[in-house]
Amino acid sequence: MELQNKIDSTFEAKFGGHGTIYASAGRINLIGEHTDYNGGFVFPGAIDKVIMAEIRANGTDKVRVYSIDIDDYAEFGLTEADAPGQSWARYIFGVCREILKRGGKVEGFDAVFAGNVPLGAGLSSSAALESCFAFAMNDMFNGNSIDKFELARIGQSTEHNYCGVNCGIMDQFASVFGKKDHLMRLDCRSMEYEYFPFEPKGYSLVLVDSVVKHELADSPYNKRRASCERVAKRLGIETLRDATMEMLEAVKSDISAEDYFRAKFVIEEKERVLTVCDALVAGDYATVGRCMYETHAGLSKDYEVSCEELDYLNDLAKECGVTGSRIMGGGFGGCTINLVKDELLASFIETAKARFNEKYGHEPKIYEVIISDGARKIAEAAH
Ligand code: GLA
Repeated sequence: MELQNKIDSTFEAKFGGHGTIYASAGRINLIGEHTDYNGGFVFPGAIDKVIMAEIRANGTDKVRVYSIDIDDYAEFGLTEADAPGQSWARYIFGVCREILKRGGKVEGFDAVFAGNVPLGAGLSSSAALESCFAFAMNDMFNGNSIDKFELARIGQSTEHNYCGVNCGIMDQFASVFGKKDHLMRLDCRSMEYEYFPFEPKGYSLVLVDSVVKHELADSPYNKRRASCERVAKRLGIETLRDATMEMLEAVKSDISAEDYFRAKFVIEEKERVLTVCDALVAGDYATVGRCMYETHAGLSKDYEVSCEELDYLNDLAKECGVTGSRIMGGGFGGCTINLVKDELLASFIETAKARFNEKYGHEPKIYEVIISDGARKIAEAAH
């Protein structure tokens, strides 16, 4: 309620009156990292941390938007030439443009937004922002005629075409399709998905946020994707979804060592998602946890998207007897996701905070994971 009130009073102060309030969520991913753009499986869920926006059509062809968290204002038109300079505003501009490119309708509007998805933590604050505005534009200007998958794709295309990230579909899918107390297994080739109830008995999911973000200049995410695409091409298949370790071994001498290890991780990871889904249904948390540690090792050694701080948090989890732990999201900083027995939770958090602080001079942030709903309308204009 606090977030909503802040947005509402700011909207009134900036623009007068009230708009309609929408929100969309950040996400966690239990397992299945860097598999989405390889046509594999992912297993995310939306969380209780959101980006929320109050929006009202303004009868012009201009968008006027204020970000409370960044304390910055942007104004832009809706043609390709009108791209705003601020990077945060390009997410909103991109969503508008992608809807228009698909033949949808967007008119000028006023908006104020804020959120509580931590930035740079690997919880997809940008997908939450895109999904919030895509959902809102669909509701306000398109009579909700754009289907939910298309809303997710609009966010993904925004990343590709306006933000320079060749991401997969996982984050936007999770943000749009999220359902309280459910994880979702998505097959990123067929786009079939299934909801899995997530109520682990005697266990909790907790995120340990290193609060470090290694900004790497040469777009390492896009480079990982390019490696995978090169190997798929060499194998004569569309994506690594159809690759096996035998196929990879057969071309090992024709590809770089780096590409080999990238592909090896993806091939192993897509199997792990299926193993974890089965284990979860069977209540076999030991297997879920083992796979999480395997994923971390692969992301760290083969895919090389971890960093010293995250490896240290993973080691700490192991030392504390945590059932499963791994770096989550794209990598290069952010947080670990940990499956912890309830009786160990307090001591793990205490140890992780103290030991990390000792080594890196600041405490990590801790977030309890609460699986929640995705994109939605919060309140009508006349609230
Ligand atoms: C980022 C991307 C996703 C996905 C993950 C890694 O979050 O946006 O599409 O590739 O990294 O699993």
